[in-house]
Amino acid sequence: MKKSGNISRLFDDIASRYDFLNHVLSMNIDTIWRRRLVDISRVSEGEVVLDVCTGTSDIEICFAKRSCAEKIFGIDFSRAMLEVGAKKIEERGYAERIKNSMGDALSLPFGNGSFDVVTIGFGLRNLTDYSMGISEMVRVLKGGGRLLLLEFAPPKIKIINVFYRFYLKRILPIIGGILTGKRSAYEYLSDSISGFLEPGEVMRIMEAEGLKKLESFALMGGMAYIYFGEK
Ligand SMILES: C[S@@+](CC[C@H](N)C(=O)[O-])C[C@H]1O[C@@H](n2cnc3c(N)ncnc32)[C@H](O)[C@@H]1O
Repeated sequence: MKKSGNISRLFDDIASRYDFLNHVLSMNIDTIWRRRLVDISRVSEGEVVLDVCTGTSDIEICFAKRSCAEKIFGIDFSRAMLEVGAKKIEERGYAERIKNSMGDALSLPFGNGSFDVVTIGFGLRNLTDYSMGISEMVRVLKGGGRLLLLEFAPPKIKIINVFYRFYLKRILPIIGGILTGKRSAYEYLSDSISGFLEPGEVMRIMEAEGLKKLESFALMGGMAYIYFGEK
């Protein structure tokens, strides 16, 4: 059973190595996926974005670089992840446009209808209640606003799925353990990826939360998806 306190501690523990490992393990493909998310959001002049579970701020920085978003807000419950992000935001000169705060995705500290675009990347699978997480994100969206979710999915082709599960279960925790000294954190991350929902189930929750114009974009043959919906 997932517990919020354990998850925030886990991310605090791996924060200093998170970016390095992410980029190494994905061969930088995660960067391409974040860019795609920003492009699909079609942010226009003056719009305001919220990135939930922002971690080390890669999605926010990508919005600052590639879009004309006026302000980008981020929220995460791991102080250490936010601190790594804060350094990157400062170094790249985006401190005026990006504002982060510590908080829980399941109880967002923002009023109803505050944002034009809400995103979450590789965060949804960590939430203790996926529906509640999506419902909160929909609540803070303006009418007509766009929600975008980026998350891993189980590969559809059986043989690839078998290798993928082997990699997640046996290889990833070993590499993660060697490079960070936190093998149990990478065991959790592996389990959270293999235990996450099928794309159809994610779309059903989005529909149940009242989102319209639903679309899903398969990445790398379905290893991950970007889900899109309008309020
Ligand atoms: C795998 S990281 C993803 C970070 C970032 N979005 C990215 O694209 O790399 C997941 C993040 O979600 C945060 N998180 C998990 N559950 C949360 C919750 N209930 N409220 C706020 N943040 C949460 C963790 O602290 C962590 O920073």
